[in-house]
Amino acid sequence: MSAPSGRGEWSSQLGFVLAAAGSAIGLGNIWRFPYVAGESGGGAFVLVYLICVAFIALPVMLLEISLGRATQKNPVGAFLTIRPGTKWRFLGFLALITGLGILSYYAVIAGRVVAYCVTYVQILVQGGAAEYQGTTTGTLLYFAFFLVLTVLVVVGGVQRGIERWAKILMPLLLVTMFGIIVRGLLLPGSLEGVKWFLMPDFSKLDGRVVLNAMSQAFFSLSLGMGAMLTYGSYLSKKQDVLRCGTWVVVFDTAIAILAGLMIFPAVFALGQDPAMSTTLIFEVLPKVFAEMAGGTGVAILFFFLLSVAALTSTVSLLEVVTAYFVDELEWPRSKAVWVVGGATLVVGIPSALDMAGIEALSSLAVFGKVGFFSIMDFVWGNLSLAFGSLMLCLFGIFVWGLQRASAEIESTSALFPKIGGVWRFFVRWVCPLSIVIILATLFGL
Ligand code: TRP
Repeated sequence: MSAPSGRGEWSSQLGFVLAAAGSAIGLGNIWRFPYVAGESGGGAFVLVYLICVAFIALPVMLLEISLGRATQKNPVGAFLTIRPGTKWRFLGFLALITGLGILSYYAVIAGRVVAYCVTYVQILVQGGAAEYQGTTTGTLLYFAFFLVLTVLVVVGGVQRGIERWAKILMPLLLVTMFGIIVRGLLLPGSLEGVKWFLMPDFSKLDGRVVLNAMSQAFFSLSLGMGAMLTYGSYLSKKQDVLRCGTWVVVFDTAIAILAGLMIFPAVFALGQDPAMSTTLIFEVLPKVFAEMAGGTGVAILFFFLLSVAALTSTVSLLEVVTAYFVDELEWPRSKAVWVVGGATLVVGIPSALDMAGIEALSSLAVFGKVGFFSIMDFVWGNLSLAFGSLMLCLFGIFVWGLQRASAEIESTSALFPKIGGVWRFFVRWVCPLSIVIILATLFGL
């Protein structure tokens, strides 16, 4: 992304779409979407999710990218550029804390993905069908390994290099997923899962499900904490925000739906519980691989590609937080990255210990969530992103001005003048009101 010297710019439209899609596509689509859908009862959740993506997340996405492109800054700097000295900068700080919070547990899951990849390599080499045993030390080490990897990529400023790789590897991930989907669908009883995933059962809808769907849309699209803002800040004034943003949304959503089709038919065919929460894909996929001809090879490929997808996401999380220290406090880049990475490691340790099954942490309960990890995911991944997106809309409405935001998008989009009014209507009314209502329902107001 940004070169160590100067801010840099995407050389092409594709550069931005790839990087933004790299940030968006990751564990959010393949691990989080199925686990949340599983907890939220299936089809009805999926329908609400798609509605939230189209009517809430897409408008917010355009606002976030355009604010980045207009100011060419990190989240804190963007608010300060529009209005010097503004208290809105605290929203920028919240964004940074949210980024660190998400990264802290996201890297734990990413570490587990690497662990599975390594385990399958061992199986291939040594034979046997040993299952991955998540020991405490192992979980901590893989978590630390993934964070260090992320730090090294961001320090080295080689994001662009990774994205070039991702351009080849992501289509391969898609192909692998198709293979796994087909195997899952061939299992007897899989159609139950397809039905469960695609046919809405509205009796399962409640406030919590709607919040889960909306927050999942923000999480999956990397919205509400300034990641798209930061990526937009590297977008040149010639590039089309509307088209780029829409592409990212379409890719990302397609991958999430495919992930659902990869998991749920197998869940039902194998008699698993869809609501088993954060461990869902790790329980179900190995059982599918076990049924597959060449399953070990497919598993290695899949977990490797998923690690790469996760890396392009963790890199974006770390980059956003780092950009603040570099731009605003003028820290040397590598110092900023190591300090933020170190802080994330400390914050993430309890999540890793929870994943490893340490009783004191996995029995913790707040907000109806059980386990330190789930609480972190709920606070940062659900509440904070929804709140951040709401505040971003309010900033757009009351401080920046939606006319100015529109002008920013319009300057390079032939289509936008025709739909700008609709977009403003959504950002002014639909997005903030729905977020407020959904959050209020959650707190029982
Ligand atoms: N969207 C990514 C995923 O789906 C995770 C992610 C990266 C993210 N950057 C973010 C989530 C910023 C929220 C905010 O895996």
